[in-house]
Amino acid sequence: MYNKGMVIAGLIIFVLLVTFPIWFNRLDAGPMPKPELPPGGEKECVAPAAVMRDTHMQLLNEWRDDVTRNSNREVIVVAGKEYGKGLQLACMQCHSNKEKFCDSCHEYAAVQPTCWDCHISPTEAGLKKEAQ
Ligand code: HEC
Ligand code: HEC
Ligand code: HEC
Repeated sequence: MYNKGMVIAGLIIFVLLVTFPIWFNRLDAGPMPKPELPPGGEKECVAPAAVMRDTHMQLLNEWRDDVTRNSNREVIVVAGKEYGKGLQLACMQCHSNKEKFCDSCHEYAAVQPTCWDCHISPTEAGLKKEAQ
């Protein structure tokens, strides 16, 4: 007949194996990155930092739709300075180091936004100028 001890041992091994991804990741997610603040010394973002952390993806989609579908190129004002609604026109004006800002978080969270297939980062813009 069944051996109770063996069944329980088998169950424990099964549970450990099935939950492996959960506890393995917990143990080894690594330290949270500290995104670099704007090198230009700007102090404010287009929204409070906590809001930006949570919803910058939605905000970018809204801006894109405003511009491309509704022809709404209305500028936004941060600390008295005007910015157009766009990745290069706003975000990258302050967060000019994409690698140390956007990428540091995205690598940690394993997200790969495809925006840069078409939009250009400040480093690429710099390289382009040099090549001209
Ligand atoms: C006028 C300059 C400026 C513009 C434009 C700007 N930011 Fe920021 N951003 C900042 C500053 C300064 C902070 C830090 C604010 C703080 O810590 O209170 C920040 C914070 C953030 C954070 C939170 C970072 C963290 O440490 O958790 C995210 C995410 C972010 N910005 C994304 C964006 C995106 C995406 C855009 C374009 C839609 C953008 N920012 C446009 C200046 C700017
Ligand atoms: C504080 C960390 C942090 C910073 C800084 C940050 N992001 Fe993100 N970003 C995230 C996380 C986390 C996600 C994934 C969110 C999700 O899947 O719900 C994300 C998702 C995105 C997405 C959506 C990607 C997709 O495939 O759906 C875009 C677009 C994006 N970020 C743009 C930017 C840009 C541009 C910057 C730099 C100006 C930036 N982010 C800076 C953490 C960050
Ligand atoms: C297939 C190419 C392509 C990809 C990928 C792409 N875009 Fe765009 N995007 C465009 C084009 C073309 C425009 C129109 C430019 C104009 O009319 O000013 C645009 C416009 C925008 C605008 C309006 C302001 C501006 O800069 O002109 C925003 C904001 C924007 N895109 C955000 C994003 C974000 C965020 C991502 C990634 C999640 C992304 N885009 C991915 C091609 C692309």
